Amino acid sequence: MKKIIYLSFILLVSIACNDAELKASIERGAVVYSESCIRCHMSEGIDTNERYPPLAGSNWLTEKRKETIHATKYGLRGEITVNGVQYKDIMIPMGLTDEEVADVLNYIMNSWGNTQKKKVTPEEVKEIPKKMPR
Ligand code: HEC
Repeated sequence: MKKIIYLSFILLVSIACNDAELKASIERGAVVYSESCIRCHMSEGIDTNERYPPLAGSNWLTEKRKETIHATKYGLRGEITVNGVQYKDIMIPMGLTDEEVADVLNYIMNSWGNTQKKKVTPEEVKEIPKKMPR
């Protein structure tokens, strides 16, 4: 019985720490967003001119996690489909560190109604190969 109480305590503490870490990452990500993304994706992550796809409600963030990380780290060009709409423009590589990529993704994945609780970590970003089949 003691063991169970002890284990539940450890579990609760680790959940709380994880939440605090995610919150801190989101806060740092908001700064990265305003410096590197806002001029194209707007402060609300919406598509205003049919050139830049939306981030708010984007199916990329929920269904194409690897591609999303890759695009943020290495840039993106060519035809893509977001929420059933086609886009064809260029997102330049912004030269962000793996930490900055993780932070900004945690920010956009938890803003404007997006709720992607699985935290992006710098380790996960590092593992994404530069050359990715698409
Ligand atoms: C120069 C304008 C520009 C900037 C700056 C920019 N993007 Fe993009 N972004 C685009 C364009 C254009 C596309 C679609 C590319 C295509 O058509 O192949 C895109 C696509 C995306 C996608 C995948 C599609 C989607 O809507 O979910 C994500 C995720 C994304 N951008 C995140 C970011 C983040 C995060 C930043 C800042 C670190 C950023 N972008 C900065 C223009 C930009």
